[in-house]
Amino acid sequence: MIQSYPAMRLGVCYYPEHWPEARWDEDARLMRETGLTRVRIGEFAWSRIEPEPGRFDWRWLDRAVDTLHQAGLGIILGTPTATPPKWLVDRMPDMIAIDREGKPRGFGSRRHYCFSHEGYREQAARITREVGARYGEHPGVVSWQTDNEYGCHDTVQSFSPAARDAFRAWLARRYGDITRLNEEWGNVFWSMEYRSFEEVELPNLTVTEANPAHWLAFRRFSSDQVVTFNRAQVEILRELSPGRDITHNAMGFYTGYDHHDLCEDLDVLGWDSYPLGLLEMFRFTEEEKRTYARQGHPDIAAFHHDLYRGCAKDGRWSVLEQQPGPVNWARYNPAPLPGMVKLWTLEAFAHGAEMVSYFRWRQFPKAQEQMHAGLLRHDGSPAPALAEVREAIEILSQFKPETATPKQTAIVYSYVSEWMTQIQPHGEGHSALWATFDCYSALRQLGHNLDIVPPTADLDGYRLVVIPCLTIVPECLAKKLEAFDGQIVVGPRTGSRTVEFAIPAEMPPGPLGDLLGGRIVLSETLSPRMFDREARAGESAWIDHYEGAAELDLSDDQGNVLSWLFGNVRLLCTWPDRLQILTILEAASRDAGLPSRRLEEGVRRRSRGDFVFQANYLTGGFAWQSSGEQVPSLCG
Ligand code: GAL
Repeated sequence: MIQSYPAMRLGVCYYPEHWPEARWDEDARLMRETGLTRVRIGEFAWSRIEPEPGRFDWRWLDRAVDTLHQAGLGIILGTPTATPPKWLVDRMPDMIAIDREGKPRGFGSRRHYCFSHEGYREQAARITREVGARYGEHPGVVSWQTDNEYGCHDTVQSFSPAARDAFRAWLARRYGDITRLNEEWGNVFWSMEYRSFEEVELPNLTVTEANPAHWLAFRRFSSDQVVTFNRAQVEILRELSPGRDITHNAMGFYTGYDHHDLCEDLDVLGWDSYPLGLLEMFRFTEEEKRTYARQGHPDIAAFHHDLYRGCAKDGRWSVLEQQPGPVNWARYNPAPLPGMVKLWTLEAFAHGAEMVSYFRWRQFPKAQEQMHAGLLRHDGSPAPALAEVREAIEILSQFKPETATPKQTAIVYSYVSEWMTQIQPHGEGHSALWATFDCYSALRQLGHNLDIVPPTADLDGYRLVVIPCLTIVPECLAKKLEAFDGQIVVGPRTGSRTVEFAIPAEMPPGPLGDLLGGRIVLSETLSPRMFDREARAGESAWIDHYEGAAELDLSDDQGNVLSWLFGNVRLLCTWPDRLQILTILEAASRDAGLPSRRLEEGVRRRSRGDFVFQANYLTGGFAWQSSGEQVPSLCG
């Protein structure tokens, strides 16, 4: 099976409301002269669009849209619902989200709304309708972005009265009657039974942990609230602005809502790529943070490119915000190595992006993000990234990926698995997302072209399928795997729970019992004190005890089993360290007839059509050329 790719465009995020109007022409001209063809605006401008309730000031935005359009830029217009203005909050104070500890998340930054508040939902629909009616048919508006980064600053879950009421209604729809809910959740345990849906509270503020099934229902509910909030905007925009793409910007390592579900309503999924901030803020070793401080770990951006391509309808995705220099929000905020902005840009296109848009045009000298770089400095002079953007555009102009890329390896991932491992880690550090990342990283070190796909995906054409940690395995996936004739690798906890967070009657791995020729009879975790292997700070070792017909595949120096082999399937019975994962996946790749030689440290490769992109994350060098030619030693 093959995949084909659409156009490649460069854009930038621009906030005309930050700058005097007299400067807009010059900005637009410079954007075009740089080679940018897209500009993303408007997503935080509510207080300027509607300075008083019901009084709209469109004049400035009309002029901004016209100026950008006349310069030849296609506009991606954002709905401003991530930043409800003060007058709205004052009129409707209970629209504010409530955190897990019961504290309000007040006005003074952004995303201070509760997804379940009906009054805010009406207001969000109202402003979307206003903006959509004003610009829906404007020839300069080529697409729409809904809101901004759902979930940023940990804002998907709200523990407000509005959320509680909406949760009860959601439960009533899902379970029909309360006896069924009690039964599914096992509420007889600790006398947690309810007599009606009206008795169910939110799962925070309990004495000790709430029932995992209760948490899981709340995670599903919270995710659905995001999806329906978004859908309301999409429906309005489709009506008022036919023919335009609708997108939203997802974040890195963020799992608060189900992106597969959100994408049902979007044409293109965008994501915001901040490789240096993400390296600093997430689960990387000190050594990785030191080695890649100015480049980002070699798999951070690529992982999200492939994950979000797999979430997006028809595989259409873009980078809506690309880091151009230091950010302001990580623990430490270094500048990228010279060349990295260019490398990140080209790598995104090698993974199939339609567009890369930089955040942001010009550094704003005031407010929260005054330390965040742009393509221009605060005084309007070029920042170092601007020249790199020009160079990237020059390289892209020589590149025409007309042929499709063959499938090699699929990694199966679901958001619900990550929610379940967060709810019930069972030992420090276990997470479906990070198991997926570790497998992804290992396979990328072998030079595979990877797709990260949902459990419902078509697996035809792949030669290797890796399922790092899929707690709930749908029957349809079990059937596809039984018929699959390539190599399969299954990780711990896969098939270990039912849809309602119970251990399956037939024991883990649930519907994969036949595929694996046995079952898991016990799962334990060991503290780092008890084993001798590389671990990230505090991370424990997971051990699944398998009984069945499989043969030993690999064990460690002390004779502990790492993986079992049953026909074309390898079962990892521990969450191995990175070297062990690499060894197991190397063997599976060899058996699948896929590349199985480790690339040099820091080197990664991705092909798109006839072209191969090769990057060296140690030096920031890269090469991109036709696969017919020998990939030369890396420049830079
Ligand atoms: C993103 C956000 C932008 C900006 C940026 C800074 O999370 O969408 O509005 O805040 O981060 O890096």
